[in-house]
Amino acid sequence: MRTVLVVSTRLTPARRAALQRLVEPEGRPEFAEPATAGPRMSGADVTAVLFDGVGASLDLAHVGPGVALVALGCGFNGAAPTKVEAPGEIVVRVTGHDDPRTRRIDAEFALVDAFAAVAVTDRSFLPVLTVTYHFVDHPAVVARGRAVVSGLGNTNEALADPRLATVLRRALRPSGATPTPPLGVGIVGYGPYGGMGFVHGTAVTATPGLELVAACDRDVDRRKAAESDFAGVRAHVSVEELAGDDAVDVAIVALPPVSHAEVAMALLRAEKHVVIEKPLCLAVADADALIAEATAGGRVLTVHQSRRWDQDFCAVRRAIDDGLLGTIFNVETFVGGFEHPCRAWHSEEAVSGGTAYDWGSHHVDWILQLFGSAPVSVTAIGHKRVWRDVTNLDQLRLRMQWGDGREAEFLSSDVTAIRPPKFYVQGTQGTLAGHYRAVAFERLDPALGYVREPAHHAEAPADLVLARYQTGSGVAETRLPLPPVQPFAFHRNLADHLLSGDPLAVTPGSSRQVVAVLEAATRSAAAGGAPVAVTPPPGR
Ligand SMILES: NC(=O)c1ccc[n+]([C@@H]2O[C@H](COP(=O)([O-])OP(=O)(O)OC[C@H]3O[C@@H](n4cnc5c(N)ncnc54)[C@H](O)[C@@H]3O)[C@@H](O)[C@H]2O)c1
Repeated sequence: MRTVLVVSTRLTPARRAALQRLVEPEGRPEFAEPATAGPRMSGADVTAVLFDGVGASLDLAHVGPGVALVALGCGFNGAAPTKVEAPGEIVVRVTGHDDPRTRRIDAEFALVDAFAAVAVTDRSFLPVLTVTYHFVDHPAVVARGRAVVSGLGNTNEALADPRLATVLRRALRPSGATPTPPLGVGIVGYGPYGGMGFVHGTAVTATPGLELVAACDRDVDRRKAAESDFAGVRAHVSVEELAGDDAVDVAIVALPPVSHAEVAMALLRAEKHVVIEKPLCLAVADADALIAEATAGGRVLTVHQSRRWDQDFCAVRRAIDDGLLGTIFNVETFVGGFEHPCRAWHSEEAVSGGTAYDWGSHHVDWILQLFGSAPVSVTAIGHKRVWRDVTNLDQLRLRMQWGDGREAEFLSSDVTAIRPPKFYVQGTQGTLAGHYRAVAFERLDPALGYVREPAHHAEAPADLVLARYQTGSGVAETRLPLPPVQPFAFHRNLADHLLSGDPLAVTPGSSRQVVAVLEAATRSAAAGGAPVAVTPPPGR
C-alpha cells in the first residue's frame, strides 16, 4: 500500500478532509507534525510527501530518492510562494512547458482560490501553471524533477477543483514526471450512419498522447473513407487483421450493438485495451465475461458514454452535487417525439437490442450516475401501434425502483406529439426541469429561397429551470447556466488513464449496470410489464 505523508501546519478539520480527498486516490494519507515527520519520510511505503503551509525551511534530509515532493503554500530552496492574496476567482493557464503533470489539462480555467505567486530563484524550476494578477503573469505552480511548488490550493474549495486536483495528484505520483510515448489507436467500424468512426478519429487526432494508426471496416467504401479522412491510417479488412496489428494498443469498437460482445472479446484476447461504443453489449452475462477477461489480462475496458459530458447533464449533476435540490428521490427523462423512426439498424431489434438500448444506454446511465447506484427492480411497458415497418417498439416506459424507495423513469417514444421534459428531477428542497428546445438552421438559398433545417431535438442542450422551496416565501425559480463544452473529454480521460494513471471516468462496472437495467426492462416489456429484478454484479 502506498503512503502519502501529509505534513501540515494548518490542519483544521475541513483542511484535513480536503487534503485527504486530494491524496486518497494516490495512496493512504498519513498526517504528521513537521517536528516529528522527518524519520517517516524515509519509510519504504512512503511514495510522496505533501507539505502544506509548512514554514520556509523544509528539511528534506530524510526523504528517499524516488519520493515525490509537493509543497502547497510553502516552498523548497529555489522556489517559494510569496504573499497570499485575498480569495477570489482567478484564471489559471497551462504554460507551454510540456510537463507530464499538465498534459491534457484545460489550457485555461477559472478557479476560486487564495493565490500566492511563486518566486523562483533557481531557474531549473519551470512554471507549469500561471495566473495573471494585476496585469502581470505570475508562476502559480512550478516544477523541478520530482519537486512541485504550488501557490494554488490554499483554500479547501480550490483543492476540490478537478483540474488543479489532477495536476497535484499527478505530482504526488513517483512516476508523475516520466514522459510516456503515444498510444496507437485502431477504430473497428467506420460507418456512414452515426459516423462514430469519424467522431473517434477526430477525437483521437485531437488528443495528445493518442495516435490514430488504423481503421477496419468490411465495406471497401468505408475503408477508403477512413484513409481519405485521416492521412496515414492503415485500413484493415477484418477485425482479425486489426487485432493482429502490433501498432494498435487501443481498439475502439464502433460496430452496431449486436456485435459488441464478440468483437470486444476477440480484441481483449489479442491484448488490446478496448473502448466499446454504447451500449457495452446487450446481455449482462456478456458484460461480466468481458470485464472478467479485461481484468485477467490487465487490459483497460471502457465504454463511450459520451453523454456524461453533455452540458445540460453536467449542469443537472452540478446542481445536485451542490445540494440545491436537497436529497433527490425521483428522476424522469424523456427522448423522442412523433415522427417516423430512423430507417437504419437503430430501429431493428435484432441489431440494436431494441428500443431500450439505443437512447436508453445514455438516459439510464445518466439516472444511475445521479443516484450513484443501480435500481433493484425494473418494470417496462411497451407499445407497438403505429410504425409497422420497423421492429423496435413505438414507445417504451421504463420504471426503476431502488430498495430505499427512490424511483426513476425513462420514456422513449416515437408517438409523443407533445414532448414532456428531457429531465425532471425531484429533491427534498426543490425540483429541476430541463425542456427540449426546437433548434433549426435557417438560411436563404440563392435558388430555393428560405430554407429551414431542423436539428435533431436531442442534440441541443435543454433549458434548465430549478425551482426551490423557501420557507415562508414559497417557490423561487432560477435558470441554470450551462458549463463550457468539454471537447473530446472521454478521449482525454482515456489518455489520462492509460498514460498518466488518472482514474478512468467510465468504469466498465458502471456500464455493466446500465446493461443490467436495459436487459431487465426488455424482459419486463416482453412479459407485459411484470417486475424484473436487476442482476447484481458477480459476487454480490
Ligand atoms: N456515443 C454516442 O453518442 C453514439 C452515437 C451514435 C452511435 N453510437 C454507437 O456507435 C456504434 C456504431 O454506430 P454507427 O451509427 O457509427 O454505425 P454504422 O452502421 O454507421 O457503422 C458501422 C460500420 O461497421 C461496419 N461493420 C459492421 N460489422 C462489421 C464487422 N464485423 N467487421 C468490420 N466492419 C463491420 C459496417 O460496414 C459499418 O460501416 C453503435 O454501437 C452505436 O450505438 C454511439
